[in-house]
Amino acid sequence: MMRRSFCARAGKPEQKRLGSEKGKKPSALPEGFFFLHAARGERWKPRRVTCNIGWMRKATNIVWHAGHVAPEERQAITRVRPAVLWLTGLSGCGKSSLAMGLERALVSRGHLAYDGDNVRHGLNKNLGFSDEDRAENIRRIGEVAKLFLAAGVMPITSFISPFRADRAAARRLVGEGEFVEIFVDAPLEVCESRDPKGLYKKARAAQAAGQGLQFTGIDSPYEPPENPELHLHSDTASVEQLVEQVLAWLLQRGHLLGAE
Ligand SMILES: Nc1ncnc2c1ncn2[C@@H]1O[C@H](COP(=O)(O)OP(=O)(O)O)[C@@H](O)[C@H]1O
Ligand SMILES: [Mg+2]
Repeated sequence: MMRRSFCARAGKPEQKRLGSEKGKKPSALPEGFFFLHAARGERWKPRRVTCNIGWMRKATNIVWHAGHVAPEERQAITRVRPAVLWLTGLSGCGKSSLAMGLERALVSRGHLAYDGDNVRHGLNKNLGFSDEDRAENIRRIGEVAKLFLAAGVMPITSFISPFRADRAAARRLVGEGEFVEIFVDAPLEVCESRDPKGLYKKARAAQAAGQGLQFTGIDSPYEPPENPELHLHSDTASVEQLVEQVLAWLLQRGHLLGAE
């Protein structure tokens, strides 16, 4: 990491405009520069870094490379007409349970699907839970899902993805007809009472202590889908019932090739 090179452009007049006075987390990013999380015990400092920034195009001399394999050839192997199954909902609503159940059911029937629940462990491990990082998290997930579509595989994403604008951007990225927004809906009280990882408990304790955790539903907003392809009620239906509902929807719309 470049520790030495303080960013002169962001460090002086811009620094004030962005509300990033010494020791405070900046509220926005100046173009061309990036703010890294301060190492443990350090204060926030703007730093110039050499890594790429998601929403910026750096290189200008990139040419699209077309392959020799038609989508239908891949789909004959994977037996899906792929679409991203984009699960969204509060923490604890049952996204991961549904994603795992769906992946299991699809693969058992010979349709290649992949549940990418663990992307924050690898590709996105440098992202936190600020609004900016959440947006970048979703942007990268959208891009990876698009690669899976191109490979003829049905990607399943199970992330809270709380902001409408980010989900809309992912929809635009992969294209209408290849984006299935699935609202896994359970009331906050139900999700909070499940709390298998103790995350709500931690978030409530932090809130009571006056230290926000930016936890969706507690001190960070969740914007429910206005027009999802599927609206599932995970407070009243079991995981198995929800899997059946999604399979029926996919079958009816011709996504499961060679299935009756
Ligand atoms: N449809 C459902 N009905 C009842 N309990 C469920 C259902 N789906 C998930 N759960 C339970 O709720 C908890 C949270 O599920 P999980 O799939 O991890 O949610 P998420 O991925 O949305 O955070 C788990 O304990 C799980 O067993
Ligand atoms: Mg989950």
